[in-house]
Order: sequence, then structure tokens, then C-alpha cells
Amino acid sequence: LPAAKLINIAETNPEAIGQLRKSKDEPSSGVLRVRVQGRVQRVAKQGGLMFVTLRRGLNLMQCLLAGELAKTYDALTLMRETSMEVFGELWEVPAGAHAPLNRELHADYFRIIAVAPGGDDAFTNLVPEDGDPNTLLNLRHLTLRHDKPSAVMFVRGVLEGAFHTAYKEMDVKKVSPPALVQTQVEGGATLFKFDYYGETSYLTQSSQLYLETVLPSLGDVYCIEKSFRAEKSLTRRHLSEYTHIEAELDFITFDDLLTHLEAVICRVVDLTLEDPVAGELVKKYNPEFKKPSRPFLRMRYADAIEWLREKGIKNTEGNDHVFGDDIAEAAERKMTDEINRPIFLTHFPVEIKAFYMQKADDDKRVTESVDLLMPGVGEVVGGSMRIWDYEELLAAYKREGIDPAGYFWYLDQRKYGSSPHGGYGLGAERFLAWLMKLWTVREACLYPRFMGRCTP
Ligand code: 4AD
Repeated sequence: LPAAKLINIAETNPEAIGQLRKSKDEPSSGVLRVRVQGRVQRVAKQGGLMFVTLRRGLNLMQCLLAGELAKTYDALTLMRETSMEVFGELWEVPAGAHAPLNRELHADYFRIIAVAPGGDDAFTNLVPEDGDPNTLLNLRHLTLRHDKPSAVMFVRGVLEGAFHTAYKEMDVKKVSPPALVQTQVEGGATLFKFDYYGETSYLTQSSQLYLETVLPSLGDVYCIEKSFRAEKSLTRRHLSEYTHIEAELDFITFDDLLTHLEAVICRVVDLTLEDPVAGELVKKYNPEFKKPSRPFLRMRYADAIEWLREKGIKNTEGNDHVFGDDIAEAAERKMTDEINRPIFLTHFPVEIKAFYMQKADDDKRVTESVDLLMPGVGEVVGGSMRIWDYEELLAAYKREGIDPAGYFWYLDQRKYGSSPHGGYGLGAERFLAWLMKLWTVREACLYPRFMGRCTP
């Protein structure tokens, strides 16, 4: 047999793979003998033939084992996930048949690299694709080998890259704030506390405050870092550890902030869908996905309360919503799903929002704040203009009962050349859940962390 050239399953360059052979009657000049390595995704038998689909990452190759090869002990006992090496020529698939990249490897030899177990321990027994969600999470390291989880992780990577590209295009600079902190951003109830050489410290809830401090040195900035929330409830969209995409913009108005958000989100969606593989995967798992059109609907919190009252959607106590109510997840989802397009919900009351939010000029009861709500998920972004006056910020700490001492560095921002500025945080998992129509943000994490789960 001629020497076999090792190629990747995804290789399509004719120089590397040679010509595809069309039939056994065709001369084999220009047809190379190749060798591929991967893991068994599927085995199908037809007459004396064996069709073995090999997987290398997201890529698949169909291999055909015929004659004596299909009768060997290794072939007869071949299990899903076994890793192996297959040698042979690449053929066109016959008309009417289908295979990845429209080709199949006609094996003349194969070699097992490492077997996967059969019997009760067989992969498909342990992690059936539609298995119990908790079992699948216990075995997440294996579950991740299935089509959908690996597709979601792939799109997630492309999505993150799209944010980097979009920010670069907009001249927003990347920084990397600390995860171990001694200040709160979004309220004491969801702080993870830990002992830091004898001092009480927290896992960061948001990098916002640190981003604000960098505006004078770098201009507009962003980061993609983990945020941590000790959420004490189990919902479809709350995690204890999530990827937070945050940006902070200097010398802007509230309107600039909303326009920027629309631009980033639309650009990121375009870039993600332009990736040939990610684009196909979004289409496969979310065939109804429509790119959002600009401008997004803008709705004031007070109008949302009216809307909820008119529709008879009640608050958590079962009463009609009134001004000042937090709009809970269920009501927010109902509203977003019914309106069925991205909504900028703005101008939340001071009392239900974080200490740092700037009050609106035309109504001091409310803040220049925004939540971006997406169908199927609800809130994916939270943002606002920030209080930029020193005394006003001190008063806000007092109102919230927070000791400002630990925030000296944040206050200094208001002392040394303050500026009107604002920013936002976007939950990567929620965004991905919207893009790929995932039931829960847990599906959007490699290894999700939520109350009760910190393993594997
Ligand atoms: O609305 P949040 O709490 O806002 C902030 O943290 C701001 N300091 C961000 C900023 O302005 N830089 O969170 C922002 C987003 C939410 O809209 C949501 O997408 C996501 O972070 N998020 C969570 N995602 C998953 N699990 C959780 N427990 C989350 N909490 C917030």
C-alpha cells in the first residue's frame, strides 16, 4: 500500500487530500491515500458494510469499512467514542447518498487508538441526548460531546470574538479588572464573601466601578470577565458565575448610550452570523431567528407598568402592578414575548435601582437606566448613566446605608475631573440563549455554576 498522508477530517484543500475518486472503474491517478484520526460518533451497518462516522471537534467524516475489515473483532466491537485512525482513499459519495463534505473515506486499514467502554458504561447509556437534565449536568464532561452542546460552545466562542471585533471597530479599549474585590456594585444580597488573608472580600458582581476609573486614562473601555452572584433562587436565567461583557463610555448622554448599545448588538449579531459555521448552527437550532432591526423599541418603566396593568399581568403578590414595583421575571418575560422584539426599558425608579445611577433631569423619581429585554429570555443588558457629582454620590451611599470609606477610589473619580458617563453589562449566557433559543442559560455554559452545583 502507498504511504498514507495524515490529514485533518475537515481538510478540503485538493493538494492535501488529492482528487476524490468517483468510482472503482475510474483510474486512481491523483487519488491520494490518506489517514485521519478521530472518535467514533456513529456506527451504522448495511449488509456487509460498516459506515463509521468519525468526529474531530465539530467536524465529521464518514468512513466505509467493507469486506474483511468489517468482519474484524475491532470492527465488530466498535463503540461510540472509541478513538481510531482510518487509512484509505477519499471517494465522492454516490448520487442520492449524503455524507459530510460530500465524501467518504474507503478504508483499506484502520487502527484503534483507545477503546471506549460498551455495556452499561456505554456512552449513549450514560448520557442519552434527551436524558434527565441533572444527570446530564453530573456528566457534563461527557454531555459536551453531543452535537448541540458542542455547537453552543462553538457559537459562544465566535460570539465572544465578535464582541472583541465590534469594540475594536468602535475604538473601545479592552482592560481586565480584578475578580477579587472589597466593594459591592449590585447589592449585598448576592455577594459571595471570602476570607482574603484575614480581610473580608468578595467575588466581583460587576467590573463596572473599575471600568469607570479607567475612562480618564484609556477613554472608552470594555472587559469580558466573570461576574459572580450568590443567587439564592433557581431560575432559567440565573447563574452564580457568568460571563459579563461590560463597557463604559465617557462624555456621553443617555441617548448616546442607547444608540451605542443598538450598534454593538447589531454588529455582533452580523459578525456571528457571518461566520460560516456559527451562522449555520444558529440557523439549525434557531431557524426562526430574525436579526433585530434598529431602532429598538424604547419604553419607559412607567409605561411598562401601565401596559402590565392593562394586560392584567399581576405582580409577585398577585396584585396589579403599581409605580415602584420591581417587574419580576415572569411578568417581564410575558411582556417581552408578547411584544416580541427587543425592548429598551428605561427610567426605572431610584428605589429599585443601584446606588450609582444618575437621576433623570425631567423626573427626579427615576434614573437614566436601561434594561434591554429580548424575546425568550427577558433582560440581557442592564445599564445606566452614572452619578458624576461628588456630593450626590455621597448622598446615594447614605441613602443605601453603604459606608463610602472603601469606595475612596470610586469617589476620587468624581473629584479629579468628573464627566457625564455611562455604561452597561451584558450577560453572555443570556445573549447566547436568545441567539440560539436555549431553554436555560445553563446550556450556554461550559460547566454551569448555580445554587447547588459547583461540579464537575
Ligand atoms: O443588571 P446587572 O446586575 O447590572 C450590573 O451588574 C451593572 N453593574 C453592569 C454595568 O453597568 N456595567 O447585570 C447586568 C447583566 C444582566 O442584564 C444579565 O444579562 C446579566 O448581567 N446577569 C446575569 N446573568 C446570569 N446570571 C445572573 N445571576 C446574572 N445577573 C446578571
